[in-house]
Amino acid sequence: MALAPSLSHHEPAILLYQPDHSPTPILEAPGLRASTTHGYTILMIRPWQGRTPVIPASCYVDVSAQIIGDVVLGENSSVWMNAVVRGDVHHIRIGANSNVQDCAVLHGMRYKYPVIVGDWVTIGHNATVHGCVVEDACLIGMGATVMNNARIGEGSIVAAGAVIAENTVIPPRSLVAGVPGKVRRELGPEDRDLILQYARNYLDYVKIYLAEPR
Ligand SMILES: CC(C)(COP(=O)(O)OP(=O)(O)OC[C@H]1O[C@@H](n2cnc3c(N)ncnc32)[C@H](O)[C@@H]1OP(=O)(O)O)[C@@H](O)C(=O)NCCC(=O)NCCS
Repeated sequence: MALAPSLSHHEPAILLYQPDHSPTPILEAPGLRASTTHGYTILMIRPWQGRTPVIPASCYVDVSAQIIGDVVLGENSSVWMNAVVRGDVHHIRIGANSNVQDCAVLHGMRYKYPVIVGDWVTIGHNATVHGCVVEDACLIGMGATVMNNARIGEGSIVAAGAVIAENTVIPPRSLVAGVPGKVRRELGPEDRDLILQYARNYLDYVKIYLAEPR
């Protein structure tokens, strides 16, 4: 992805706004967005150690989200207000048609565990997804925590507030809830519809937000 020539990873994350306070961001380049506040421009999508997030044009990344370093988003995916996708100490991959909602945090474990998220995944508000794998068509509920080296099997729901302990493997199509998270039941077709409906809703929001003037 092309970067504006003035940007290098040695530059600070927060840059002073244009001296004339013009509303034009300092930086405009594909995949890079800046927000302005109180006379500062804050770079929310930025390289780290020479690795730049890869974000297809079909994705929506809110201006307040932070995406850093070795991160790849799939087509139509989205990252919402104040979410942090921190691909510094390990890489982060998010598949197509997935959404990372407000204030969620994705981060890997240095030298050990990246974060791998499949297609059609919803990561709810305020969830923490750390050094783990979330397979396709999963719903990670609001405020849930998924810890290092856990694996959430395809088509599963991690209930709101659940904590999935390190190294836990959740079989496909499971409902997991509680602290620590335990499998409560096997999911059926209605549950799958629910999971996919969450993702479809966000595909609609992506279209709406991308059409808004920025
Ligand atoms: C899991 C969820 C989908 C409910 O599903 P459900 O089919 O109604 O769940 P069930 O009634 O089959 O629950 C199975 C068991 O898990 C328990 N449970 C369900 N959600 C729970 C939660 N968040 N925390 C703890 N226990 C939970 C139920 O009490 C039930 O326990 P029991 O067997 O002892 O009675 C819902 O609670 C949830 O967490 N949704 C997440 C929504 C979200 O965060 N969306 C993203 C933002 S848009």
